[in-house]
Amino acid sequence: MSIKFDVRTSPQAWTQAAADIVCQTVRDNERPVLVLPTGGTPVPMYAELVRRYRAGEISFQKVTSFNLDEYVGLERSHPESYYSFMHRNFFDAVDVPAENIHLPDGRSAHPDEACAAYNAMLDEVGAVDLAVLGIGHNGHIGFNEPGADPAGRTHCETLSLQTRQANARFFEDDLDKVPTHALTMGLGDILKAKKILLLANGEAKAAIIRKAFQGPVTREVPCSLLQNHPNVVVLLDEGAASLLEKA
Ligand code: PGA
Repeated sequence: MSIKFDVRTSPQAWTQAAADIVCQTVRDNERPVLVLPTGGTPVPMYAELVRRYRAGEISFQKVTSFNLDEYVGLERSHPESYYSFMHRNFFDAVDVPAENIHLPDGRSAHPDEACAAYNAMLDEVGAVDLAVLGIGHNGHIGFNEPGADPAGRTHCETLSLQTRQANARFFEDDLDKVPTHALTMGLGDILKAKKILLLANGEAKAAIIRKAFQGPVTREVPCSLLQNHPNVVVLLDEGAASLLEKA
């Protein structure tokens, strides 16, 4: 197992560490390919990347990006579509060329075709240099819910009640407004990335962080599959790290 835990004691230090890893990947690769997450956790990381771009410290012009997932049935213009999230928090403010930005098409009337198209684009770029991930309270990564195929590719996933409840805060706390399905890159796609940065914050994530990284590797806890990956950094604050057993 090659998991490196990095526990930061201030939000600022945590944010700098996340942005540092992304920037390092961008600088180290001629044509960097990134997999990017949405959710509450990465928002400060994107803000810091935007700050560095505006300060002239980094350019994302050579980057190709793939987002992990997208809700099914939301228009791109919906404020909670991941297309909107990514443009609002990152793409509109930086220089990633529009043609290099990829998100699964959650509006497609034919989700299987949209997933196949996404897989074809992933195959075309070849290796992913860095996949940045959040983690759900049930251990999901992307929207790969417990039980997802460890070798799976981009597919349509039925969201668990727990996941929809966790995300209701973005939909006026109205569960009925939270989509029931999402298109997500599969675990097989994610695990093929050369490097993985997993982000988690807060005590509410402590139990699942311990289960994922100090419990058995099982498809019932999708994030636990990262234990078999050769190059993973788990970036935590003290709350999220609070239940880890010291090595
Ligand atoms: P969060 O979501 O960052 O909003 O907690 C993480 C996830 O569900 O992957």
